[in-house]
Formats: sequence, C-alpha cells, structure tokens
Amino acid sequence: MNTKQLAAEKAVESIEEGMIVGLGTGSTAYFAIRRIAERVKEGLSIRAVASSQHSEDLAREWGIPLVAFDEIEAIDVTIDGADEADGEANLIKGGGGALLREKILAHHSRRMIVIVDESKRVERLGAFPLPVEIVPFAENLTLRSLKELGVEPQLRMKEGVLFRTDNGNLIADCRFGSIDDAAQLERRLNLIPGVVENGLFVRMAHTVVTGYGDGRVTMQ
Ligand code: 5RP
Repeated sequence: MNTKQLAAEKAVESIEEGMIVGLGTGSTAYFAIRRIAERVKEGLSIRAVASSQHSEDLAREWGIPLVAFDEIEAIDVTIDGADEADGEANLIKGGGGALLREKILAHHSRRMIVIVDESKRVERLGAFPLPVEIVPFAENLTLRSLKELGVEPQLRMKEGVLFRTDNGNLIADCRFGSIDDAAQLERRLNLIPGVVENGLFVRMAHTVVTGYGDGRVTMQ
C-alpha cells in the first residue's frame, strides 16, 4: 500500500453510521473516496458532499450517496489532502484547484481530517506556491494587487490553456517562500477585491494523518 493510501484508509476508519462526510480532492483524497465506497458497499449508511466535480464524479460512479452544499447544515467529518502541512496543522491547499469548495467544507465541518504522505510535512509553510483563486474579469488588476505583496503570481495553465476552477475562476500561484504569519497573510489576501479565496487553511484541520514509507501512520 502506498503512503497516500495508508493515510487515507486510516482516516476513513473515523467515519460512523449516519454521518455527513465531506469528500476532498486530489490523488490522496482519491484513496479515501475509494475506501468510503467500499464501506458503503459493506452497508455503511452515509451521505457525502464533494469538493470538486471530479470527486463528485468518483463518488457517483462508486455508489456513494451525495447531497448538495445547500441541502445540509453542517458536515460531520471532512477528509481531504494538502500540499503542505506544518506542525500546527496549518495547511497550503489548492494544488488541484479546488480550494474554494474545500475551504467551505472545512469551515462547516465538525472535524477536518487531513491526509498526507511524509513529503507534505514541513516546518514552515510556503515552499509550495500558494494557490489564489481570482475572478477572471479583473485579472490584471487583481494580479497587480498580489504583486504588491512581494510575489510574482503565475496564472495556472493546463494543457496550454488557462486553468479554470469548477467555479469558472482562475488560479494565481504565488511563491511566498517561507510564510512567517499564515493567519495574517490569509487575511491580507482575502482583503484584495478580485481574490475569491486563497489556499491557506489556518487552524482549520483537527487531525493530520501522515503515511510514511516504512508503513507507519501517525495521527496528530
Ligand atoms: C486540491 C487540493 C489537494 O488536496 C492537494 O493539492 C493535495 O493533492 P494530492 O493529494 O494529489 O497531492 O488541495 O485542491
């Protein structure tokens, strides 16, 4: 079993009968969704809300009952990946471009479990370029405001064209280097008109489950 799968399957053990479960996005969340689907086949009754079209498609294909964001009042547990996780469970997310829906899920979750392999554990956030979701119609003005924070934002491309999120927006990837105060940066970014959301998840995760190459899994 690979390290992502180790972490994902450990986290899925926390899901209990009747829960509303937030489904993350990405290659680690994939293993969680697959394991949840197995448990549903074995008789577990849950409903899930997905953080991306891709995760929704997987859930539908594998028979996990889905609910829409607007049909629920809260989420019992969300299981999602991350691009970086520090020792205080602060995260950079959005490598897959699903950060807005992921953050909405995390905010409304009684418990957010993050699943990562050891390569994602860092002393300090910031080596991974921070994804910032921006509206497409004021792209240049918004990029200019981002540059005032001392970065050179790169508009994300996919297969030679501008990447669009599930919400129709763009992603500006911003290399901040080492982030000293993630909470302050999160606030500053979201004060820029044209920024929809950013990939800093500060004090949102309750547990980080990490899979290691030697087969160990830790929960912090
Ligand atoms: C998607 C995300 C993912 O959780 C993050 O990019 C990690 O992905 P992976 O598990 O494929 O490494 O935030 O928006």
